[in-house]
Amino acid sequence: MRTLREIVPLREALDEFRRRGQRIALVPTMGNLHDGHLALVAEARRRGDVVVATIFVNPLQFGAGEDLDAYPRTLAEDQAKLEEAGCDLLFAPETTTLYPRGLAAQTRVCVPEVSEGLCGGDRPGHFDGVATVVTMLFNLVQPDVACFGEKDYQQLAVIRRLVADLHLPVEVVGVPIVRAADGLALSSRNGYLDAAQRATAPALYRTLCALRDALEAGADPDDTLADGLARLRETGFAPDYLELRDADLGPVTTTTRDAVLLAAARLGPTRLIDNLSLTLP
Ligand code: PAJ
Repeated sequence: MRTLREIVPLREALDEFRRRGQRIALVPTMGNLHDGHLALVAEARRRGDVVVATIFVNPLQFGAGEDLDAYPRTLAEDQAKLEEAGCDLLFAPETTTLYPRGLAAQTRVCVPEVSEGLCGGDRPGHFDGVATVVTMLFNLVQPDVACFGEKDYQQLAVIRRLVADLHLPVEVVGVPIVRAADGLALSSRNGYLDAAQRATAPALYRTLCALRDALEAGADPDDTLADGLARLRETGFAPDYLELRDADLGPVTTTTRDAVLLAAARLGPTRLIDNLSLTLP
């Protein structure tokens, strides 16, 4: 696997793949890779002839006071994992390579409606930063297909919307959440948890499972969500939100069948997110 840090050699390598008629599958990440990221690489291998991964801790999607500086950077370990997973090319640019004129001067992509509420409500500007860097990576790599995790459900919806709205010729593939044996969704931020918090963390998923079972059995959504919030607080979480939406993140109506429960909750300074799809009766 080659690692490239600059745009010109990246374009040359991609041109060579295209000359050979190879289908390019992209996996964008911020590094500190775990089995969730590697599931995206495995899916990308199934969907393309060559897999291009990117590692870039994107400052444009971090708010003031968020964990940009603390975000784990583990390039050597990540390279070994990608190589082992069958990735062909890693693009790992410096911040100044993608944003040479600085963040304030950067042209941005803004995706209204689907970026609002949920994580977009708690993290103003976050999805503009995600949409901007993903659009840039799509332009740099020009992949045939790109894989994203369902763990970041709203992010996936934002990316699907921007691809549709800007008529980008990329197939977006969602990959199911990879969990630890105790149910906790794998996340680079799990590394921030101390032992006691790590023991509490799977209660987020267990709560979502209990709520799904109740809702699928016909329980009242408002009462069920109120119970869920109380349960999260009792377990030691500070919930940011717990919501039931339709599968496209619109409001649930009497005719909604495909729905999703979404939650963000803090354990100490660490913010965890999770979601669970369900079928309403
Ligand atoms: P990052 O948090 O590194 O995640 C990269 C990709 O891995 C995302 O598509 C995310 O949904 C997926 N992922 C993370 N944990 C997962 C899990 N447990 N199961 C399945 N997929 C999982 O998301 C980002 O980076 C950034 O916002 C990015 C899209 C790279 C733009 O900067």
